[in-house]
Amino acid sequence: MSRQAPAAISATTAFVKSAAPREFPFSDREFEKIARKLYAEAGIDMPRSKEPLVYSRLAKRIRALGLDSFADYVKLIEEPGTDEIEHMLVALTTNVTRFYREPHHFADLKSRLMPALAERARRRGRVRMWSAGCSSGQEPYSMAMTVLDAMPDAGSFDVKILATDINTQVVREARLGAYQREALNGAPQPLVERYFSRPEPGILQAGDELKRLIAFRTLNLMGDWPMKGTFDVVFCRNVTIYFDEETQARLWKRIADKIAPGGRLYIGHSERVSGPALDILFTDGVTAYTKVGP
Ligand SMILES: C[S@@+](CC[C@H](N)C(=O)[O-])C[C@H]1O[C@@H](n2cnc3c(N)ncnc32)[C@H](O)[C@@H]1O
Repeated sequence: MSRQAPAAISATTAFVKSAAPREFPFSDREFEKIARKLYAEAGIDMPRSKEPLVYSRLAKRIRALGLDSFADYVKLIEEPGTDEIEHMLVALTTNVTRFYREPHHFADLKSRLMPALAERARRRGRVRMWSAGCSSGQEPYSMAMTVLDAMPDAGSFDVKILATDINTQVVREARLGAYQREALNGAPQPLVERYFSRPEPGILQAGDELKRLIAFRTLNLMGDWPMKGTFDVVFCRNVTIYFDEETQARLWKRIADKIAPGGRLYIGHSERVSGPALDILFTDGVTAYTKVGP
């Protein structure tokens, strides 16, 4: 077979896919209305290039609801107070994540922050961390493993991780804490052995010591935040990539205001803090920021 063959085959496949008749017509106007609703609800900026993704994910909803068209679906999401918005957000958010993603953040948390935070906790102080946009839990469980690695008795002190996401489905999965064994291949194996159990072949279940540290909540970062205090550590990684610049700058400022003086923010490798947050956060490591003070 010639070296060109795979490209030729995939080009043909792409043509066949795009030429295939669709089950439901999907006009530009309907796409715009859905994109506008998604932006208004979640701050997510859905470019026109993602039209096939929007089609395939929402066609499933249209089928499940027994509707006939995208026009009917648009009517439904425009009804005041409809609970379809929740399903639309489940369908249209991108939740790719993994354990110990960008491992240098966890190494930094362990070696640079945990010694002082553990000492404070032992003196009966309060330690708070936040995984903002936690998806199905891999990030907050990695944080909890890092905390327990540095402080195995953290559960006996006032150490808590808040894990939030707008997608109710992933928050449910996160709370459940059951993963395919392979998902934890990249995590430190002694910690996996210690803090996960094997309820059935091929499944790893987060244990009570991890779960006790984490509170999982549904939270829209664009809405009001019920949290009263500040956080010593915030992970908000690979979330703002879906927002436009204005929304990013506004969110960074709100997050910066929720970080305690001297506290730390970790962001995704392709993200940058922008706007007024930079008056109170300074770059301090790779995709890591420290809040000015105390
Ligand atoms: C790509 S995942 C990143 C998960 C994890 N932080 C990581 O880096 O692996 C982005 C997450 O942000 C969530 N998200 C998007 N818009 C949001 C919003 N307005 N409020 C809260 N979460 C949001 C999505 O539901 C998704 O689970």
